[in-house]
Amino acid sequence: MSRSNGQARGQARLSEILALAPVIPVITIADAAQALPLARALVAGGLRAIEITLRTDAAVEAARAIIKDVPDAIVGIGTVLTPQDLERAQKFGAAFAVSPGVTQDLLSAARETDLPFAPGVQTASDLIACVTGGFELVKFFPAIPAGGLGALNALSGPFPQVRYCPTGGIGETNVREWLVHPKVAAVGGSWIAPASDIAAGAWDKIEQRARAAAALRPASQR
Ligand code: 3PG
Repeated sequence: MSRSNGQARGQARLSEILALAPVIPVITIADAAQALPLARALVAGGLRAIEITLRTDAAVEAARAIIKDVPDAIVGIGTVLTPQDLERAQKFGAAFAVSPGVTQDLLSAARETDLPFAPGVQTASDLIACVTGGFELVKFFPAIPAGGLGALNALSGPFPQVRYCPTGGIGETNVREWLVHPKVAAVGGSWIAPASDIAAGAWDKIEQRARAAAALRPASQR
């Protein structure tokens, strides 16, 4: 296995990005016309790092528009499933990429680039693949269904060097519990900008939620 990799730089940069704010809004956007007001609301609320998921036809156009016209936004691409997704994200200038899972193909492709990449883990086997491949900053997904903080605590035993961006089932009511965990770099979640608020153009509501989230602090950064 080739261990020399651009991800030493990529993971260091990912750590910087996750340190910008305690929450990464996970966005599923149906209409690219909503991208700019949405990104401006998030940035105005203090959340600069944004994950646009590759789950809709509008995702790539939306991400490109934000990269071009909202310079303070740091646009990441989520739902990266294949090396091709990773390549696409890099080509159009994404600042980081996130996967819900981990495969050897994805890890190998990511090592060829310095695009900050967070593979997704749920099990000890996933973590063995990540750690032996040089990835110690990962997404924990789906955080609540996969066992919540109990699972994160248990996994932290054999993998003390790993830090996480837990995502999946985290929202206003439980985000603080996650942010006090010393291994949590930041959390991700769709609650800041739910699809219904994006569709309704409820930018003020989204900005308010972003502002409240930006005021939180992970224990790892206190
Ligand atoms: C993701 O892709 O990270 C999740 O869909 C976000 O999970 P949530 O909708 O439960 O916040």
